[in-house]
Amino acid sequence: MTGYLRLGVNIDHVATIRNARGGLHPDPVRAARLAAESGADGITAHLREDRRHISDDDIRRLKSDIALPLNLEMAATEEMIEIALATQPDHVCLVPEKRAELTTEGGLDVAAQHNLLAPVIRRLCDAGIRVSLFIDPDRVQVAVAEALGADCVELHTGTYCEVSDAGRDSQLARLKDAATEAVGRSLECHAGHGLSFDTVAPVAAIPELTELNIGHFLVGEAIFGGLDSSIRRMRALMDNARADASGQRSA
Ligand code: PXP
Repeated sequence: MTGYLRLGVNIDHVATIRNARGGLHPDPVRAARLAAESGADGITAHLREDRRHISDDDIRRLKSDIALPLNLEMAATEEMIEIALATQPDHVCLVPEKRAELTTEGGLDVAAQHNLLAPVIRRLCDAGIRVSLFIDPDRVQVAVAEALGADCVELHTGTYCEVSDAGRDSQLARLKDAATEAVGRSLECHAGHGLSFDTVAPVAAIPELTELNIGHFLVGEAIFGGLDSSIRRMRALMDNARADASGQRSA
């Protein structure tokens, strides 16, 4: 039977709304607490160099106040490494970061940045933090991630989500291929970026995946039905896709 698929809820855009007015509301830590009650298995937050959404204090409070595992997304810079070492999140997910981008635009080119990433991954692993690399679904990137000693890869689902219907199947095939390669190399395999109610099921059905990280859509959908409802529906879609994939769904 296909195993359980964890849902990591990314609460960055709760902070985006808070920061639009510069106050304290809505508090992403309160959202994380609600996410835990609604079926999230972990909390993901991206501390960007420009602090456009999540703040240093949010990360400190997420770690101290929330019982769920914390997945800290960050660029491989000295400033962020020091914050990670001080905070001790359960996972660090290394992502590429460009100042002018609206969101993380592509995966980390781990093959091109091998020499920069190797000592960063070693320092984080030596501190007992599990390291994930956010990469495009590509076998070469997966192979380099293994060579670098990462524990995990997170496959970028952005292209799969954005492509027209005609291109969906080939993008899904890329995700499946990369996930197979990752598990064959004993890497834990996650996926995320851009997933919604409409796009999640085929990804959730990939048996090699153990976690999806989803944020923007869940927070946006919360405007209409509440965060609890958006997370519960996503959780149900993921569970149903898993059950269908393994022929276990009850009628
Ligand atoms: N995974 C990673 C590595 C990301 O950078 C992001 C966006 O911060 C996500 C998942 C979640 O993407 P979205 O907010 O589009 O669901």
